[in-house]
Amino acid sequence: MDAPLNAALSPRAAIPLKTEDIELRLLLEAVFQKYHYDFRGYAMASVKRRLSQAREHFACATFSQLQDLVLHDDGMMGRLLPFLTVQVSELFRDPAYFRAIREKVVPHLKTYPSLKVWIAGCSTGEELYSFVILFREEGLESRTLFYATDINAEALRSAEAGVYGLDRIRLFTENHRLSGGRSSLSDYYTAAYGAASFDKSLRKNVVFSDHSLATDAVFAETHLTSCRNVLIYFDRELQDRAIGLFKGSLAHKGFLGLGSKETLRFSRHADAFADFAREERIYQKRERA
Ligand SMILES: C[S@@+](CC[C@H](N)C(=O)[O-])C[C@H]1O[C@@H](n2cnc3c(N)ncnc32)[C@H](O)[C@@H]1O
Repeated sequence: MDAPLNAALSPRAAIPLKTEDIELRLLLEAVFQKYHYDFRGYAMASVKRRLSQAREHFACATFSQLQDLVLHDDGMMGRLLPFLTVQVSELFRDPAYFRAIREKVVPHLKTYPSLKVWIAGCSTGEELYSFVILFREEGLESRTLFYATDINAEALRSAEAGVYGLDRIRLFTENHRLSGGRSSLSDYYTAAYGAASFDKSLRKNVVFSDHSLATDAVFAETHLTSCRNVLIYFDRELQDRAIGLFKGSLAHKGFLGLGSKETLRFSRHADAFADFAREERIYQKRERA
């Protein structure tokens, strides 16, 4: 039988990558080799869009010039990271998600004497504070240890500071109310000089840590993991890696919450989880997964 034509062709005859795409891959390789930030498995179209903005910002004609800066200017990685990581967040973002956590997940969590909650890709802390406030309102905070992790050290510092512009508070307050909030959001922050500083007592059970879903391992057993609006930036393989970490860290019958545009459906780990609140993208790890 004849071999398929494609297999017979020399690799040189295959459609070549555009030079710009070769440079992009080499830039990501340089970032990984030199700094161990691994963006090689991110969804390429959006990485390319964001690095094109960086290329313009740093007045580089090509990705290769950007690569040269990354390799030879020690401060460059810190300046490039904000382009590579998207920091959009809100307190009680998608209130229906937090309402489902409150009404459907919390009754299960109340049966445990102690709890560990992992907020993976916590960015500047809005998702974390939403959970701590919700847990305080539901009487679970004092028995819970929260791990808040991200690869962006600057974002983690903001999360630890817990200071947000007062102009955002109206939205946060409305989200909190829609999530079923049992108190006034103003109970948790002090307003001064155009900023709202969240009470430091909210951070007393929180461990902030640099952790990458692309390169790091499981570090604790958790009862609830929330990883929202992070997997959308990953390709399928990297999504599987991250979901594998969540599977590895969750206790049996533990809960996993994703963002509104994210799903486990296409993951190779899908069988390890059951839908718990389908609309709100909350899953429960199966007993023997
Ligand atoms: C759009 S924000 C989501 C913030 C928050 N989870 C939310 O839903 O509001 C995405 C976050 O994922 C983080 N991130 C990107 N790649 C990551 C990785 N490999 N491991 C951990 N966090 C990552 C980014 O630094 C950023 O803070």
